[in-house]
Amino acid sequence: MAPLLKADAASIERAALIIRSGGIVAFPTETVYGLGADALNSAACARVFEAKNRPSFDPLIVHLADRGGLEGLVKSIPPPARALMDRFWPGPLTLVFDKSELVPDIVTAGLPTVAVRMPAHPVAIELIARSGRPIAAPSANPFGYISPTRADHVASQLGDAVDLILDGGECAVGLESTILRIDDDGAFLLRPGGLALEEIEAVIGRVADASGPRARPNAPGQTASHYSPSTPVRIVKSAADAGPLTGNEGLLSFRGFSGEAPFAAVETLSPAGDLREAAARLFSCMHRLDSLGLGLIYAEKVPQEGLGRAIMDRLRRAESPSVDRREGRPFPD
Ligand code: TXA
Ligand code: MG
Repeated sequence: MAPLLKADAASIERAALIIRSGGIVAFPTETVYGLGADALNSAACARVFEAKNRPSFDPLIVHLADRGGLEGLVKSIPPPARALMDRFWPGPLTLVFDKSELVPDIVTAGLPTVAVRMPAHPVAIELIARSGRPIAAPSANPFGYISPTRADHVASQLGDAVDLILDGGECAVGLESTILRIDDDGAFLLRPGGLALEEIEAVIGRVADASGPRARPNAPGQTASHYSPSTPVRIVKSAADAGPLTGNEGLLSFRGFSGEAPFAAVETLSPAGDLREAAARLFSCMHRLDSLGLGLIYAEKVPQEGLGRAIMDRLRRAESPSVDRREGRPFPD
């Protein structure tokens, strides 16, 4: 079992040393915990794929501590991307650029593009800065499973596969970053996430939604199933539509549940109906329900606006693994 250390100057320095020597470290970001390696070291990145049991066709996101590091990794920075960086970096926004020679193919899964973001978390920034390398990091969960929003999620899922886990507490955003590709054809949403589409469109105008299963061939990681608990999930309009109930079902409620139905367990995302709070709690509620050995988890729909879009995206992916596996489609992350 890897050491799980509270993030402080000494443990971050130790983690940075591990990154510099080709090891892998789990660390907190504002979105979810990442599993990091030196992005310029192919062998270290290969260990990340291996630890997650992640297929090599699913590329990693490169994390930077400051914008200075970006120029060397990409061919060019389109003006709308620059405007978004000015407004939202550091923060839960990943941008996909044409990559430079410097970025190893294993990081981008052979694609000519690289995904980059600057996390808004002091531990992540300190770790990247101290290691002096860009850090390639997928979410620190086994491939296909729910992303970790707390250090103990990482410890229980990947504790034996990493060299060190930095504990920086609970992730404030709780959903993975929003991923955007900007090229000569326009701006494309590749994954809804912790930054709402409305906020992005307020800066650069219309963004085309390319996040559907087959919307765009060049958006790996966007096939249906992923972010899945081991317990089957079914989406319902509201708890009243759940059933028939045998007493072994859980409910993931949006605003709370006061009915009579015999759910074995209920988790509530946000009593006030606040989508930001709901997003921040989504994965930890799913982790809790998934640990109870239930037969089925009913999940209530949330409004399709702001962060609700990303929440519904994750719920739909959690609902669909059995379907996807049957059809033999890949189900990345
Ligand atoms: O919030 C986040 O983004 C977290 C934290 C750790 O930063 N990371 C994360 O990484 O969610 P991961 O590996 O779980 O998801 C990365 C997604 C994948 O769906 C992958 O396909 C997509 O990013 N991606 C990476 N490089 C890409 C590229 N060049 N073009 C299109 N999509 C890319
Ligand atoms: Mg992931």
